[in-house]
Amino acid sequence: MPAPYRIEMLGLRKAFGATVALDGVDLCVPPGVVHALIGENGAGKSTLMKVLSGVQRPDAGRMLLDGDPYAPSGPLEARRRGVVMIYQELALAPHLSVAENILLGIEPASRGWIRRRKLEEQAREALAALGHGEIRLHAPVSGLSVGAQQLVELARALVLDARVVVLDEPTSSLAAADLSRLFEVIRRLRERGVSVIYISHFLEEVEQIADRFTVLRDGRSAGGGLIGEADRSRIVEMMIGRQISEMFPRLPHPTGEPVLELADLAAPGVRSASLVLRRGEIFGVAGLIGAGRSEMLRAVFGLLPVRRGWVKVATVAGPGSPAERLAQGVGLLSEDRKGEGLAQSLSLADNLTLSNLKPYLRHGWLDRSAQSRAALDWVEKISIKAPGPRVPVFSLSGGNQQKVALARLLHHDCDVLLLDEPTRGIDVASKAQIYELIGKLAQTGKAILFVSSYLPELLGVCDTIAVMCRGRLGEKAPAGEWTEHAIMTAATGAREAAR
Ligand SMILES: Nc1ncnc2c1ncn2[C@@H]1O[C@H](COP(=O)(O)OP(=O)(O)OP(=O)(O)O)[C@@H](O)[C@H]1O
Ligand SMILES: [Mg+2]
Repeated sequence: MPAPYRIEMLGLRKAFGATVALDGVDLCVPPGVVHALIGENGAGKSTLMKVLSGVQRPDAGRMLLDGDPYAPSGPLEARRRGVVMIYQELALAPHLSVAENILLGIEPASRGWIRRRKLEEQAREALAALGHGEIRLHAPVSGLSVGAQQLVELARALVLDARVVVLDEPTSSLAAADLSRLFEVIRRLRERGVSVIYISHFLEEVEQIADRFTVLRDGRSAGGGLIGEADRSRIVEMMIGRQISEMFPRLPHPTGEPVLELADLAAPGVRSASLVLRRGEIFGVAGLIGAGRSEMLRAVFGLLPVRRGWVKVATVAGPGSPAERLAQGVGLLSEDRKGEGLAQSLSLADNLTLSNLKPYLRHGWLDRSAQSRAALDWVEKISIKAPGPRVPVFSLSGGNQQKVALARLLHHDCDVLLLDEPTRGIDVASKAQIYELIGKLAQTGKAILFVSSYLPELLGVCDTIAVMCRGRLGEKAPAGEWTEHAIMTAATGAREAAR
């Protein structure tokens, strides 16, 4: 009789020093099931999946794969046994072609020579099986969108004849069209009997794609079941042990004089953007990925050249370098927290205070205890889960790293905040906390330019919203006059095309 479960994880434990990441977790997934793994930032989701895919060794517990003992010595053995993890930061070789990437390390060969034709045939078959025969085999993957790169990784999983595929927050950088493509591919994998484990902070997505779910909390299973039978508020309660009273708390905040103006700004990726941002205003910018929203923020912050038009901060018009912008009170939370965000090996406290050390200098010496206290303030304010202010940032979970990046910007105390996807990777409860914080900042007169791909938060948090489409920023209107549908229509340029 075949084992009822494809993968069984039983009593898994894993500690990093004093931090217990997994505290006796059980998770069993049958073949052909999409199982969602949900939980707060730092709950242990990624660690559990690293144990499953051989990246981390558990301290205790055991695993079975189709009923057989399974204790991979590393990611390679896990892959050989058919357990494949698709990483958040994609792990393809950028200069190799699509076909070469799909068969990397398992190229068909005879007498030491790679059989090109066979390689391409296998790659083509895999892409076709996923419904994406249109992806060009010879294109270097560096030229593909993140969504298409993800499909290449999934095709790779198929060629490896994967039995279990793990996706850890796969959609945090996907455009809407890529998202539905990804879901279609996941459904195909499920039809072929693959077990898919899917980690996400978007319950809307989980409801669409998953059959079953498990909630992790502080390294333990806090419940689970069939997705169809659970309602959202119940899931949130399992995650944090209480209900969220108000997801989008509205704090009154009058707006004042203009603090940032763009007039017909053009920059690489931006064809034309004009806007007026006022003191106390939360201004949302919607649009598809690639519409030029990040580029607009980067041009304002001096990271991209301004080709036409101008930027005015308070009453001063003209270009500025990032250092000059900071001095003018303009701060940017970059979308790319790995690349230009945080110094991974430095401590939480160092990262937080890096760009504004002055308050902690005493006669030229760094007062480390004052610096630690300031860091702890922020740890509390936005619930960063960390054992202390001196731990290195790389030891924090993904969502907690994102919170450190946000705290660092807020610590700088800028008047104008350019926020690019500030809640990416952040759990539901912490999102609500960050929305409240943004509201409070507006109350104290800060002006916020809020770029997001998550429409409920734009509609729930912002005073005004404008939509960017193919490098052009449209007219702003009060948030109350927008609907998700209207934003999507404007974002896809459907109205423009219909004309
Ligand atoms: N290499 C490491 N060294 C020290 N601590 C670690 C390490 N990796 C993870 N941790 C800790 O283990 C706990 C669980 O982290 P994990 O990354 O599994 O959380 P997560 O559920 O994936 O969170 P998120 O939603 O933020 O991605 C956290 O407290 C984290 O700080
Ligand atoms: Mg994680």
